[in-house]
Amino acid sequence: MSNVVTAFSRAETTAMDAALEAALRGPRGANPLVGAVVVDPSGRQLVTGYHRGAGTAHAEADAIAQAAAAGLDLRGSTMLVTLEPCNHVGRTGPCAQAIIAAGITDVIYAVDDPHDPAAGGAATLREAGVKVRSGLAAGEALELNRDWFLAVAAKRPFVTLHIAQTLDSRIAADDGTSQWISSPESLADNHGLRARIDAILVGTQTVLVDNPRLTARDASGATAGRQPLRAVMGLRDIPPDAAVRGEDGRVLHLPTRDPREALTLLYAAGVRHLMVEGGSRILSAFLAARLVDELIVYLAPTLLGSGTPALDGLGITTLADAQQWEWDQSDGGSVRTLGRDLKLHLRPQTTQPLEPQPSRSGAETAMGGY
Ligand SMILES: NC(=O)c1ccc[n+]([C@@H]2O[C@H](COP(=O)([O-])OP(=O)(O)OC[C@H]3O[C@@H](n4cnc5c(N)ncnc54)[C@H](OP(=O)(O)O)[C@@H]3O)[C@@H](O)[C@H]2O)c1
Repeated sequence: MSNVVTAFSRAETTAMDAALEAALRGPRGANPLVGAVVVDPSGRQLVTGYHRGAGTAHAEADAIAQAAAAGLDLRGSTMLVTLEPCNHVGRTGPCAQAIIAAGITDVIYAVDDPHDPAAGGAATLREAGVKVRSGLAAGEALELNRDWFLAVAAKRPFVTLHIAQTLDSRIAADDGTSQWISSPESLADNHGLRARIDAILVGTQTVLVDNPRLTARDASGATAGRQPLRAVMGLRDIPPDAAVRGEDGRVLHLPTRDPREALTLLYAAGVRHLMVEGGSRILSAFLAARLVDELIVYLAPTLLGSGTPALDGLGITTLADAQQWEWDQSDGGSVRTLGRDLKLHLRPQTTQPLEPQPSRSGAETAMGGY
């Protein structure tokens, strides 16, 4: 890493650290966490932006919009961004063009964008005369979005797993009642997540026992504008009158018990962010297969003593094989109070950091991008 340190100025390194920190404010999901900081020629930080999730402005556009709102002139400035600026006209427009239009003359990004339709921003910038360098804090930027990079490479959705449980890890009582273990604040938080994801998945048993609608709703019960695809996994059919079928019919039956196959089918249906909602056998199947990128636990200060356990076995028989998770500081932090509940936010622990790959972007680089 020493050649990286010497290739960039102290002000650039400090600004990239700030961009990495800003990125952590965003939520995980279909898009990576990205932060951007713009510095003037003296190295003074002018503006900071970050990405607030799929469908919202990218970090670069966010920073440029903030500068415009504050009346700041960015001509001749340098932008430091944790991911290669995109080149595609998606839901939010190409960042490379926004950077050129703002008159920014230097761009330093940490890692290449691996996502083909978005790739190529560096080349566009260079063609427009912008000086582009990459590789600063590449290791940190890969680590920041480690599980997202892995999901993109595997061509599967990013998987968030949700558990709403009692203090003694129960997700339903002996008689099957489970609505509601969580506080209204936790339910509202979960419905906010439902409105952001592409699909929500439950097992056939949950459909038969709870008959859930699986829609995103606000506190008054009104359905949100954006609704996830509803997916039901299992060999049994979905009853014709099941609430999950809904009026729009946007329900997908996944006739399999293999989580990998379920993810393949969902990816083919265009799903890039999946939330696995339950019940315990489905949660366990995804966790045992190590196909969970983000874990959200709503922990209610309630005891049942018996009932359906959150997990149904992960095939672990000795402590040395225990799954290890780490606290996730993104999107509001690792522990939050929601009414009387705690919301715990984790991601898988890894012992093997992702290795930066040689840059394919054509950007001048100190150590190669992703
Ligand atoms: N508190 C919460 O957050 C929450 C959320 C959801 C559900 N729940 C509760 O969870 C309970 C249901 O949990 P559950 O474990 O009985 O059912 P489940 O996980 O919802 O569904 C299990 C069914 O899914 C199918 N399946 C698909 N892949 C599987 C796999 N890899 N391994 C095992 N089964 C697989 C099987 O049905 P086929 O025979 O059709 O293949 C199996 O019977 C309910 O009481 C519900 O209230 C709680």
